[in-house]
Amino acid sequence: MKDALEQIRSEALADLAGGGDEAAIEALRVRYLGRKGELTTVMRHMREVAAAERPAMGALLNQIKDEIEARIGDALAAARGRARAARATQSIDVTEPGRRPALGRLHPLMQTMDDVVDVFRGLGFSVAEGPDIEDDYHNFEALNFPADHPARDMQDTLFIDGGDLVMRTHTSPVQIRVMETQPPPLRVIVPGAVYRHDSDTTHSPMFHQVEGFMVDKRVTFGDLKGVLTYALQRLFGADRPVRLRPSFFPFTEPSAEVDIGCFACGGRERTCRICKGSGWLEILGAGMIDPNVFRAVGYDAEEMSGFAFGMGIERMAMLRHQIDDIRLFFANDVRFLRQF
Ligand code: FA5
Repeated sequence: MKDALEQIRSEALADLAGGGDEAAIEALRVRYLGRKGELTTVMRHMREVAAAERPAMGALLNQIKDEIEARIGDALAAARGRARAARATQSIDVTEPGRRPALGRLHPLMQTMDDVVDVFRGLGFSVAEGPDIEDDYHNFEALNFPADHPARDMQDTLFIDGGDLVMRTHTSPVQIRVMETQPPPLRVIVPGAVYRHDSDTTHSPMFHQVEGFMVDKRVTFGDLKGVLTYALQRLFGADRPVRLRPSFFPFTEPSAEVDIGCFACGGRERTCRICKGSGWLEILGAGMIDPNVFRAVGYDAEEMSGFAFGMGIERMAMLRHQIDDIRLFFANDVRFLRQF
C-alpha cells in the first residue's frame, strides 16, 4: 500500500507541475482527491492493512492528501494569474477605432439667449439677474401697475398661496431691483425664466425673457430705436427691416411693439403661415421708462431718462428656426434637440 501511495504522490505532483488552466487543474483535483479519485480508492483498502501498520499508513495518506491539496491551491493561483495577464494584453488593442465620447450641447433656447446677451454685452450692457419668486411690489406696484388696475390682467399671474408672492410674470421687476441698489447711468441686460398661467402652441407656462434697459440723462426714443435696430439686425440679418408700432405698458411711456420683416415670405405672401400675411413678426415690447418708475426707486424723474425693452426668447428661437410648436422646446426629445 505504501508503494501505491508514493506512486500517486509522485504522479500527482508531476501532473500539477505541468501548468494548465483552471479547468485542467480542477480535472486533476477530481482525478486524485474526488469521491472516486485515486487517493480515495486506496483509502477504501485501509481495512486490509495489518492493524499494527494502520496508524503509520493513515498518517502517510493524510500527509500526501494535504500535499496534493496545497499544490492544487498553488497551481490554481498561478493559472488565474496567467489568465488575468492574458486578458490584460488582449484588452489593449491599439488598432481598435476609438469610441467617440457623447458630448452634450446647449439647449436651443439657451443658445438664443446667449446670442442675445452677447450682442448687448458688445454694446456695453452688463448682466443682472433677479429672483423667480417675486413680491407684488417689484412685479407690479413699482412698475406702475396700481392695485386692482385692469393692466394686471395683461399677464396671467401665478400667485403663491394667494398671498403677496407671485411667480414673476416678466423680467421687468429686475429693473426695479437694479435701480434700487445702483445709481445711474446704467446699461443692463437681464436674462431669465418667467411664468404665466398660459399654455398653447405659442405660449408656455414657463418661458424665458431677456429684459434690457438704459438709464442716463437725455436718453431718447431715437436711442431706443437705434439700439434695437442694431441688435435685431445682428441677430436676424443685416437687411432685415425693423419697425416700431405704438403700444401700451404701464411702466413705459410712450410704448412700442417692435416687429421684424417676415423671413418666411418677405412680406410677399398673403397666405404665409408664419406672419399670417401681414409681412411682419412681433418680436418684443419696449418704451421710454415711465417717470413713476424712477420715482418708485428714488431717482430724480425730472433729470433721468431711459428706455427699456423685453423680448420672449422662445418666440425668437421659434422664428429663427421656423418651429411652430413651443412645446417642442420642453419635451426633451433628443431627436429634436440634436438638430441645433
Ligand atoms: C412684457 O412682459 C414686458 N415686461 C416687456 C417689456 C419690457 C415692455 C420692458 C416694455 C419695456 P409681454 O407680456 O408682451 O411684455 O411679453 C413679452 C414677450 O414675451 C412677448 O412678446 C412674447 O414673445 C413672450 N411671451 C409672453 N407670454 C408668453 C408665453 N406664455 N409663452 C412664451 N412666450 C411668451
